[in-house]
Amino acid sequence: MHLGRKTLSKFLIENVSGSQDGAALAALLVDVAAAIKAIAALSGKGALGGATGSLETVNVQGETQKRLDVLSNTAFVNTFERGGLVAGVASEEMDDPFPIKPPHTRGPFLAIFDPLDGSSNIDSNVSVGSIFSILNAPESGEPQTADYLQPGLNQVAAGYALYGPATLLVLTVGKGTHVFTLDREVGNFILTSPNIQIPADTSEFAINTSNERFWEPPITRYVNECKAGKTGPRERDFNMRWIASMVAEVHRILMRGGIFMYPRDTKDVTKPGRLRLMYEANPMGFIVEQAGGRASTGRERIMEIVPSEIHQRVPVILGSRNEVDRLVRYHHECDAGTDTPYESPLFNERGLYRS
Ligand code: F6P
Repeated sequence: MHLGRKTLSKFLIENVSGSQDGAALAALLVDVAAAIKAIAALSGKGALGGATGSLETVNVQGETQKRLDVLSNTAFVNTFERGGLVAGVASEEMDDPFPIKPPHTRGPFLAIFDPLDGSSNIDSNVSVGSIFSILNAPESGEPQTADYLQPGLNQVAAGYALYGPATLLVLTVGKGTHVFTLDREVGNFILTSPNIQIPADTSEFAINTSNERFWEPPITRYVNECKAGKTGPRERDFNMRWIASMVAEVHRILMRGGIFMYPRDTKDVTKPGRLRLMYEANPMGFIVEQAGGRASTGRERIMEIVPSEIHQRVPVILGSRNEVDRLVRYHHECDAGTDTPYESPLFNERGLYRS
């Protein structure tokens, strides 16, 4: 029992519901939390709840849908459709956004979400999450796709749920980033880390190194320098992590610092990155910046990008600000032709492994 500790509802009453729009936003975030609790209950049952395994269907990204992807999408869609607080909804799992129509009531917001991020982890019982981004809807009429294509700076709220050993809700409404932990028995989200700050420096990086041969030079330079540790230009040892679940990765960075990279690469030249701007990079960018970190493509601030399509992909580099700034500098130096790629002494002229 956590009587006397701050619940999500109390936090929202104190921090969000000061105006008419604020009251609507607070109510919408209570609805988001309700959908998250439903997904937490489903994912927590695993195979016993019929939530594991794949379906025959493929989403707009060309990925085979998992059962939990679809169930989580339905949980969000039903919540938003019946809640009366949004005018339209866009999801990773749906080709196009859809407007809220009678008999359901239209509200003042647009909800954009990734119902189940990191879904390759479901069957191995590794942490997964949900990510959401809330924008203002046009004042009247049915929202069109163009209405969703607002830069991340316009977000009025964003957050994620992490379904791990504990279920967490991490939220920003533009006044800091706050972590709530679900008290499962009681069903309340309790504020456990208010105003969390990402350490500015870190010695931990996260990247899928199986893509190394497709990276651009600034990424190769940065990672090689980290791997060289004490013997290289950084003069200290680095640690590496890769969970393949962005939510879990961002959460680790929030708790102890770090840098996460899913950079642009040449693996598939039709895709400028793997992660999606509207429901992955933008909400995570907002969360990270509100916690004192940075979120960049390497060449521009993520939240300043003017989106061109709902399922647009972007390179993502986020986390501890001094490391992200360093990597942005490496991109600029590379583009200007003034960079100095790091070559490990093991492979250079006099090195042990010179071919
Ligand atoms: O679709 C997004 C995602 O699952 C992220 O959660 C994660 O960071 C990434 O893809 C994993 O990519 P990969 O399969 O290359 O490790």
